[in-house]
Amino acid sequence: MASERRGRLDGKVAIVTGAATGIGEAIAHTFVREGARVLVCGLVDDPVDDVVAALEKEHGAGVASGFSGDLSDEATAEACVARAVKAFGRLDVLVNNAGVFLFTGEVQDYDTDAFDRTLRMNVRSVFLMTKHAIPHLQKSRGVVLAAGSEAGSIGIGMNAPYGGTKAFIHSFIRGVAHEQAKYGVRANVVAPGPIDTAWTHKESGPMNAKMEKTNVAATPLGRLGTAAEVANVYAFLASDEASYVTGAIYAVDGGITIGKGPVGEEATRAAKRQPDSELALEHTHDGLRNKDYDSAL
Ligand SMILES: NC(=O)c1ccc[n+]([C@@H]2O[C@H](COP(=O)([O-])OP(=O)(O)OC[C@H]3O[C@@H](n4cnc5c(N)ncnc54)[C@H](O)[C@@H]3O)[C@@H](O)[C@H]2O)c1
Repeated sequence: MASERRGRLDGKVAIVTGAATGIGEAIAHTFVREGARVLVCGLVDDPVDDVVAALEKEHGAGVASGFSGDLSDEATAEACVARAVKAFGRLDVLVNNAGVFLFTGEVQDYDTDAFDRTLRMNVRSVFLMTKHAIPHLQKSRGVVLAAGSEAGSIGIGMNAPYGGTKAFIHSFIRGVAHEQAKYGVRANVVAPGPIDTAWTHKESGPMNAKMEKTNVAATPLGRLGTAAEVANVYAFLASDEASYVTGAIYAVDGGITIGKGPVGEEATRAAKRQPDSELALEHTHDGLRNKDYDSAL
């Protein structure tokens, strides 16, 4: 039975990029639960239809629609924004969550093709989606959000180019916040630390066992964050509760940015336990399964 729809994002329309897996999938579920209608966007071989079906099953027909395509292509990005406006009649929130983590290795070993693809997927897509969404967001006095990373603030060894793309996002979104404030448009970054998705497990991405272990040891809370914990912060920033928040970088990182040494090893078992989530994410598939990723480690 469709649940009653009343929440912090009632009446809002959002585009969520990279919403077929991982954090983006949790954002789509959280936004719809909070009353938004969502355009679920992913690459053509991402399980976009699964996520739309799961959302409609839980919350009723019409709460979500799907869009498949590579958003680093300008015509596709433009078509994505047009689809949201056509499907739902307006646009209030753009969540630039899509991104890739394709390679691990020291810079002298870093595959140049992986570097080019990382820049294209993580930087160009955010620029293009923001560029084409802004005219609609100016009409609704809407919000741009984007996935940064602790790596964008402090860098990340073994995937230094990835950290560079996230630093671009931090700075780009702050520039957008500055210039678009006069139209009532807000722009903010959510900067996750190590989150429990395909990327942080050696079986489903290019990290090795050492990186996997260091991620947790360097995090004061002593565990990976969940996709739902990150989605909660996106929901706050998208809502009118955050009406005076713009140009901010919200760390959702278990403290890894302030961590010094293996502090996570001191966390108690209770502190390390991930919170339960009510989001129906059981159909999640591996976000890197359809990517050509590699490691020089
Ligand atoms: N997982 C982490 O530890 C972590 C940490 C910091 C930041 N982040 C950021 O969070 C975001 C989501 O990461 P995730 O861990 O959920 O990974 P994920 O692989 O599950 O999700 C990313 C999604 O974006 C899609 N995508 C990538 N490029 C695209 C494009 N050009 N067009 C359309 N779709 C595209 C992918 O296919 C994938 O479904 C990323 O931007 C990532 O940089 C993740």
